[in-house]
Amino acid sequence: MADVLVVDDDQVLCGMLTEHLRRAGHHARGTVTLNEGLRMARENAFDVVFLDVQMPDGNGLDFLPGFKTVPSAPEVIIITGKGDPNGAQQAISSGAWSYIEKPNVVRELLLHLTRALEYRAEKQRIKTIPVALKRGGIIGNSPQLLASLDLVAKAAACDTSVLLSGETGTGKEVFARVIHDNSQRAGGNFVVVDCAALPETLIESTLFGHARGAFTGADKARDGLIRHADGGTLFLDEIGELPIGLQKNFLRVLQEHRYRPVGDTREIKSDFRVVAATNRNLDEGVRNGIFRSDLLFRLQGIWIHLPPLRDRQGDVKDLTVAYLEKLCQRHGLDTKGMAPDFINALTNYPWPGNIRELFQVIEHAFVNAVNHHTLFTRHLPEHLRVLQAQAAIRPTPAAPPAQFSADDTTPPPSWSEYKSAAERAYLRDLMTFARNSVTDACRISGLSRTRLYQLLKKHEPASR
Ligand SMILES: Nc1ncnc2c1ncn2[C@@H]1O[C@H](COP(=O)(O)OP(=O)(O)OP(=O)(O)O)[C@@H](O)[C@H]1O
Ligand SMILES: [Mg+2]
Repeated sequence: MADVLVVDDDQVLCGMLTEHLRRAGHHARGTVTLNEGLRMARENAFDVVFLDVQMPDGNGLDFLPGFKTVPSAPEVIIITGKGDPNGAQQAISSGAWSYIEKPNVVRELLLHLTRALEYRAEKQRIKTIPVALKRGGIIGNSPQLLASLDLVAKAAACDTSVLLSGETGTGKEVFARVIHDNSQRAGGNFVVVDCAALPETLIESTLFGHARGAFTGADKARDGLIRHADGGTLFLDEIGELPIGLQKNFLRVLQEHRYRPVGDTREIKSDFRVVAATNRNLDEGVRNGIFRSDLLFRLQGIWIHLPPLRDRQGDVKDLTVAYLEKLCQRHGLDTKGMAPDFINALTNYPWPGNIRELFQVIEHAFVNAVNHHTLFTRHLPEHLRVLQAQAAIRPTPAAPPAQFSADDTTPPPSWSEYKSAAERAYLRDLMTFARNSVTDACRISGLSRTRLYQLLKKHEPASR
């Protein structure tokens, strides 16, 4: 249960939203002016504020910093009047948690609230981490991402080995660098070893180096990557590909921090820390006999699993906004806006290639829209547009209300009773079909938004 404030000058909508929130078990209060809203926020501890933009006494976005800095520091969710991607972007960059377009507000209210509350709970937890984490390039504020960052902060604060797992493109390498950059080893090297790219015959000499004359062509001694990682971090990418024959040898190096270059008799010491990454299931590798359980045990001092992007849809928008801005800057262009459909299409796509794929798609759209100020779904690659179109296909309309029989012995209801029952049934079917989206409901029914709100109000709660 949360304390929520709704600031919206549309009295009917404001009443509907507070009622909706109360029925979901929250403490909700509403007001129709910004100044009154700010006063209420100063005097009460609200967790979340829903804030309209166009208000009689000013622009909600100008008041946003005021709401963010009251003692309870509520999360602010902006309610935008119409498709205004620039306003939405301004809202997000001014520190709003998210924004909802007015036509979708009834449908999406509780979803946004739940996410904001999860984030708030997570934020409270993260406050307990003593050192402020330098995020590097890591973008996103979903509870899942914040939970991973929580572990990154822990990993940075100690010197134990770390195993990063996750599907391709989820950011394992970016996270490994952030761990290094935040650790006491930040002044040392961050050395990347791609275990999948090294031919088996070269792995040992690449890692450990070799003595002069160790093999044909070794005309001089060469240091290995482990030597370069002395005082720093050794990032073993795709560790699941490390040949089983080498795993035992490597485990010993991990335990003793000593190694012997190929063809050398001396042992050399190297003080490195291991961060490993894999997109394989290493437990399964252990079961199948291709990965040593003792090595896995040694590697996962701290285990950080990066969830796929489809499980943290909240990050899609932040990543898109940031990457698009980067592209615009790189090409010396003004920042482009995004149509709401565009973000919806990206949010609803399952992203098998995760963030890498998202960035490729944004680049594709950016190139297609290089002369436009706004990105639309038509700028997306075809496979995404097809999915978007399929999702928007309209099923058959709802059946008309049941007829009553003329020769029925019971008399027909009065005209107003019949009309009212038909209205109620129609609204129920309409809102179910439109999945509570007021915009869709208006489009399907031909009703104006004001009329639809009036009817919904009249038939609450039976019609919802
Ligand atoms: N949270 C994030 N914020 C910003 N950029 C990210 C984030 N996560 C990943 N990226 C970007 O996504 C791309 C892929 O990330 P990365 O190479 O770290 O993935 P990976 O998990 O190592 O993938 P693979 O298993 O295919 O090697 C990079 O361009 C990286 O900068
Ligand atoms: Mg990688």
